[in-house]
Amino acid sequence: TKVAVLISGTGTNLQALIDQTKRPSSSAEIVVVISNRPGVQGLKRASLAGIQTRVVDHKLYGSRAEFDSTIDRVLEEFGVELVCLAGFMRILTGTFVKKWTGKLLNIHPSLLPSFKGVNAQKQALQAGVRVSGCTVHFVAEEVDAGAIVVQEAVPVLGSDTEESLSDRIREAEHRAFPAALELVASGTVRLGDDGSITWKSQS
Ligand code: GRF
Repeated sequence: TKVAVLISGTGTNLQALIDQTKRPSSSAEIVVVISNRPGVQGLKRASLAGIQTRVVDHKLYGSRAEFDSTIDRVLEEFGVELVCLAGFMRILTGTFVKKWTGKLLNIHPSLLPSFKGVNAQKQALQAGVRVSGCTVHFVAEEVDAGAIVVQEAVPVLGSDTEESLSDRIREAEHRAFPAALELVASGTVRLGDDGSITWKSQS
């Protein structure tokens, strides 16, 4: 399965996906990495791995629709079949999400549906939960609300700061996202027409 990874920054999730797809057993091949910001570390990670990169700078577009359609053109150019949003900090328009429904995965640093939106790790600390984690889900038009593919839980320690919790969640992300990518790229898991997850073994 030809995969695109969309990033906005450091790209540690991208790195985990690169490492996973290098394995001979992988069902996925990352054919392009697209960043909405130039010069970020994730672009260097892609180049080091021999993966083609594109920058689609959202500041150069007059509207979300124009930005999204440029992203879409790059995806079509590379024959992409599955898109991973890995630390991608843009909200995609409904038109784009509709077209790529079932082929769009995102990672969020909480156990959805808890703590949607930004600063999920901070929300968890403020709520006083003792368990948090990360979620890989299909992107739906409602933000952080699509069908869940993989989750991994992590403990929240009394001594945790936003940074220490974020670091622990990120380690879980680097296991959860590659696992979810393989499940979807191999066809084991897909998004059903009713918007729920369908596992291959089920009739
Ligand atoms: C991660 O914390 C992830 O939860 C969020 O983006 C952050 C940065 O990810 N989606 P990365 O290091 O750029 O992959």
